[in-house]
Amino acid sequence: MSFPNHPASLRRAAPPLRVVLLGLGNVGGGVFERLQADPSRFEVVRAIVRHPARHVAMGVPAGLLSTNPWDALNVAADVVVETLGGESTASGILHAALLRGRRVVSANKLAVVAGWPALRPWAEGPSPRLRFSAAVGGEVPVIETLLGLDGRDPVQRLRGVLNGTCNFVLDRIAAGQGYAGALAEAQARGFAEPDPAADVSGLDAECKLRLAAWAAFGRGPDTLHRQGIEHTGTARRDADSAVLRLVAELVRVGGRLEGRVAPQWCPPEDYLAGARGEENRVEIITGSGERIRLAGRGAGRWPTTASVLGDLDAVWQEHAGQRDQGFQGWRLATA
Ligand SMILES: NC(=O)c1ccc[n+]([C@@H]2O[C@H](COP(=O)([O-])OP(=O)(O)OC[C@H]3O[C@@H](n4cnc5c(N)ncnc54)[C@H](OP(=O)(O)O)[C@@H]3O)[C@@H](O)[C@H]2O)c1
Repeated sequence: MSFPNHPASLRRAAPPLRVVLLGLGNVGGGVFERLQADPSRFEVVRAIVRHPARHVAMGVPAGLLSTNPWDALNVAADVVVETLGGESTASGILHAALLRGRRVVSANKLAVVAGWPALRPWAEGPSPRLRFSAAVGGEVPVIETLLGLDGRDPVQRLRGVLNGTCNFVLDRIAAGQGYAGALAEAQARGFAEPDPAADVSGLDAECKLRLAAWAAFGRGPDTLHRQGIEHTGTARRDADSAVLRLVAELVRVGGRLEGRVAPQWCPPEDYLAGARGEENRVEIITGSGERIRLAGRGAGRWPTTASVLGDLDAVWQEHAGQRDQGFQGWRLATA
């Protein structure tokens, strides 16, 4: 038996969420494919790229495409998904989209960190209009976990392998490969940043650490020291089987929050030593001594796409919830 006036039925019948995609690259292309497969919930109304002919050749309708990132705002839409990369253009568009009432999902840590003073109010509260789960940890729910922690047992320390490219390169070096060849392989596999300098210099991990600090502590670190992996010659120590990891760490020292991104020798019993290839791992230690450990694929098209879709799913739930409330109101008014 069906109940045509039941909210769930209404949710199914609701028009799809109109989505603008800024970028159809490694991540955006994956998101596009998934949204196209779910037309009852999502409709892509515009996609911004640099080389439209290439995307048309791959089957993207020409009428959807624009090469001007600001065109993302010139179409009626509910949500903007930003996977452009880069800093200044993207963070300006994120802010403008929010001011125009769009919900925003971004995978771009550089843009979110650069624009944070203006973006922060939109990222707070139980129903944030700006979500950026994919910007930290790929499929690993780092931001979601930190936001969900009970404030009565605050985070004391957080440490993690947050850059899959660096971990992959260090693993390959430990296995005897050269630095340049290992980095080229990470790029070929699609989990290096468009500009790998941001990965190997530790900047990418630094941005993730800053976002994690905001999620865990509501503020950025007081100090942040950064060192990358560009000058790594060896990544395995035979004497004690320790492996080199690019560790991003936040420690609360009295009232101060100290941050550090640097290569560290991790003994085999260290949780972070076990991160393999592009895997990300995070260990969160709370004031009461509770240890929360998270692991998963930190980069790559499909893990990152899954994380973007998690945010989009939350937006959809809110969208559908608002419609249900609207429906209840209508039913009461017409009863
Ligand atoms: N790759 C990952 O595993 C991963 C993981 C987590 C987060 N992220 C983040 O996701 C974002 C995207 O990464 P990605 O690997 O998907 O990059 P990508 O493959 O280089 O894709 C970037 C996309 O944006 C378009 N684009 C870039 N600049 C543009 C401009 N000025 N005007 C118009 N279009 C422009 C490109 O168009 P064309 O296709 O025409 O060149 C491309 O479609 C980055 O912020 C990255 O940090 C990536």
